[in-house]
Amino acid sequence: MAGRIPDSFIDELLARIDIAEVVGERVQLRRSGSNYHGLCPFHGEKTPSFTVAAEKQFYHCFGCGAHGSAIRFLMEYDRLEFREAVEQLANLAGLEIPEEAQSSGPRENHDALYELLGKANRAFQEWLRQHPERQRAVDYLQKRGVSGEIAQRYGIGFAPPGWDNLLRRINDPAALKKAGLLVERDGSKGYDRFRDRIIFPIRDQRGRTIGFGGRVLDDGEPKYLNSPETAVFHKGQELYGLYEVLQHDRQPPDILVVEGYMDVVALAQHGLPRAVATLGTATSTRQVERLFRASADIVFCFDGDKAGRRAAWRALESALPAMRQGRQIRFLFLPEGEDPDSLVRQQGQSGFEALLAEAAPLSDYLIAETSAEVDMQSMDGRARFVEKSLPLLKRLPPDVYRHMLLERIAGLARLETDYLQDIVDGREQLGRSRKPSAPEPPGMDGSGVRRTPVRLAIALLLQRPSLALQVEDIDALRGLDDLPGLPLLVELLELGRNEPNINTSALMERFHDSEHEAALWKLATWDHLVPEAGLEREFADAMQQVRRLHHERRLKYLNDRLQAGELTPDEWAEWTSLKQ
Ligand code: UTP
Ligand code: MN
Repeated sequence: MAGRIPDSFIDELLARIDIAEVVGERVQLRRSGSNYHGLCPFHGEKTPSFTVAAEKQFYHCFGCGAHGSAIRFLMEYDRLEFREAVEQLANLAGLEIPEEAQSSGPRENHDALYELLGKANRAFQEWLRQHPERQRAVDYLQKRGVSGEIAQRYGIGFAPPGWDNLLRRINDPAALKKAGLLVERDGSKGYDRFRDRIIFPIRDQRGRTIGFGGRVLDDGEPKYLNSPETAVFHKGQELYGLYEVLQHDRQPPDILVVEGYMDVVALAQHGLPRAVATLGTATSTRQVERLFRASADIVFCFDGDKAGRRAAWRALESALPAMRQGRQIRFLFLPEGEDPDSLVRQQGQSGFEALLAEAAPLSDYLIAETSAEVDMQSMDGRARFVEKSLPLLKRLPPDVYRHMLLERIAGLARLETDYLQDIVDGREQLGRSRKPSAPEPPGMDGSGVRRTPVRLAIALLLQRPSLALQVEDIDALRGLDDLPGLPLLVELLELGRNEPNINTSALMERFHDSEHEAALWKLATWDHLVPEAGLEREFADAMQQVRRLHHERRLKYLNDRLQAGELTPDEWAEWTSLKQ
């Protein structure tokens, strides 16, 4: 297993590279002042609202809200995994990823393996075109309605009958074995894994062949044979057909997830070149994340039978952590005995599109399942419904989406949303006297940012983290949540004090996926109008006001406690010192 890439490395990487260069290679940018502007690559627009901030080293679109560091940009634009994006940037910067975080000890080079898989792929395709026994394969594909053009697009090939066609062609048993193409038995020299089968190459994001699926031409067993796991082929992560979908359309409006190779190919054949298949495994969160990077709308197509329902529920469970506002997952259950291949052949493109339009949103499906078999008219039934929904709600990241689903479930259960929220967040033991520990996110008031001392202090810190070095009394502000945003401010002060030279984008990277992310972005892109030369003064002023506000509130709180005769000895001491 690859270790986690240390934050310090990410900081250094983001300090070394220039985001304007990374983005500029892919998007046309025009300089204006210290920033760059261009047309946003993430949504269609005619006037530029996409900005690359050279100082802060991040990009931000005022049109669609896309934002992030150079790493996030590569992830979104080139559709890379986090690690892949980091690797690519490290390459560019001439940095080496720390050894403990590398894929498997010292860096392994898989070039030879990819090359061999490519060679095998070309051999299979060539055999479909010109092997003496090719006719049976061609007839089979024709019978299943696969045209030459689609076969070409999906790189479909043919492994002829015989034990050593590939072995003779490539003649490197050790390498073939590594690639999963050779079966070895009892020290024999081994034989071809794929024999007398239609071959579906499985490609990675970059189009490199990493494995194969092979289907028998008759009704032999097993019907499908897949490459085993190898150094470059991991079934739980890959999606058959994703590369081809993105080749066809870089921004598909939706992506369909189906079960089989033939479903993917048949859908493409009938005008729906936007399907991918998992490789005989349950859908993983990682796969869902990968799909969401390609499209904001995912439709799972499952058989309507029992096995299909079970698979759908598992897909729902692994999709939950990836659900956020703006992303959509829908479920389509097919009539029993049908699969996408058979359906699209019967009903054609428009028939299938009509079915897709009926697919149920994830939330509907979730609620239908958790409320099935309980009596929603009775209190006990509704309690049971909440109990079944809870673990699912807990899997959702804190986001608008979760809030909306929570609201809906609370409505059905006839509970207050806040109360259900407390239960989900594990605060229910605290009863009604809930600690106001989640601060009102600063800057989330919709109409731009309302200027408060806490917000201004945060915004200035985001711009220049070393300002934290000015603050001597961080400890005095710690642990207090009487001002909205104060705990977050303290967190930033600490970060800035420990790493004064971190740049804005590396700092934001630390908060990626945290509950504060949205609020922080708003403040990081807020035009607070403080000139560069005035930063230190303004920050000192803002901090002074924060302390004063905090002092007032604290004193008022302690006064109230005093009146009520509830002051503890510690609080008494605090009260006397604050009074001075
Ligand atoms: P299905 O049995 O539903 O096959 O397997 P299918 O896609 O409808 O195939 P056709 O239409 O008969 O050609 C769905 C998927 O499950 C995996 C394969 O990935 C297949 O595409 N599978 C199935 C196997 O890996 N091995 C098998 O023996 C069968
Ligand atoms: Mn089928």
